[in-house]
Amino acid sequence: MKVFVTRPIPEVGLRILKEAGLEVVVRESDLPPSEEELIEGVRDANALLCLLTDKVTERVIESGKKLRIISNYAVGYDNIDVEAASRHGIIVTNTPGVLTDATAELAWALLFAVARRIVEADRFARMGKFKGWHPTLLLGFELKGKTLGIIGAGRIGTAMALKSMGFEMRIIYFSRHHNETLEKKVGAQKVALDELLSSSDFISIHVPLTDETYHLIGKREIELMKPTAILINTSRGAVIDEKALIEALKEGKIAGAGLDVFENEPHIPEALRKMDNVVITPHIGSATYRAREEMAVMAARAIVDVLNNRIPQHIVNEKDILECC
Ligand code: DGY
Repeated sequence: MKVFVTRPIPEVGLRILKEAGLEVVVRESDLPPSEEELIEGVRDANALLCLLTDKVTERVIESGKKLRIISNYAVGYDNIDVEAASRHGIIVTNTPGVLTDATAELAWALLFAVARRIVEADRFARMGKFKGWHPTLLLGFELKGKTLGIIGAGRIGTAMALKSMGFEMRIIYFSRHHNETLEKKVGAQKVALDELLSSSDFISIHVPLTDETYHLIGKREIELMKPTAILINTSRGAVIDEKALIEALKEGKIAGAGLDVFENEPHIPEALRKMDNVVITPHIGSATYRAREEMAVMAARAIVDVLNNRIPQHIVNEKDILECC
């Protein structure tokens, strides 16, 4: 049986596939595949191991006549037409859990970088502009006593909030469900979105991209934020209306932003690249050695399970698949 892997992933994952006796075809490129390449790749494949950059459309799914599983090397799966996969009886899996801390840590790194102007300060020092200590040089914001608003209290949002222990912050969160862990461990309070936006000093987004969360943060929402607020996004770019954010940053409606994700990746608007109060990273939330290896193991194991007629972990269309097949 054949597995089409859209990009070289850590060897540990490929080894699991090969040791299971599967034929592994790895597309050797650093760039995302086109729809035609995906269609060609899955044509005679039994499994597809793809990345968050790969648009697995209905056309791709339809061309995979033997396809039994789409294993996404990511926790977010907005790149896959899951409904179409379900209609074709194809299992879709993702890689939750193993990248939770890596992503939450990056959100903190961005928060600190923006609040204390680390990138700007580094640039300043490297350019030889440091002429001696000065009382008003590169002033930023402290965290102690401030309010951190978490949008989306799932695994990553929860980890982000728990890591605030020690910084002595007030934690509020917006989520569909009460999060007992957060309430017990850091005294977090569940609030409405508008309240979170208007009372947070730092706002960190941790929701998946769905029809409901597309442009969840737009002009109206940004206008509710404090002029000193700092917005962090490590989830998906399109959760924020990027144009509205750029306008707000230009007009000084909020103090800054730390962005790991963008609306039309890999495009990063020049306006954002030019702003000193914006720290940008190229979608590296899960980019730690450990997380990427464990993601590879998880994605590979799901394929081995399905092709051996076992139920894999982390099926994202479990309900639809079980109903239909
Ligand atoms: C994911 O897995 O969805 C993350 O965005 C990777 O960084």
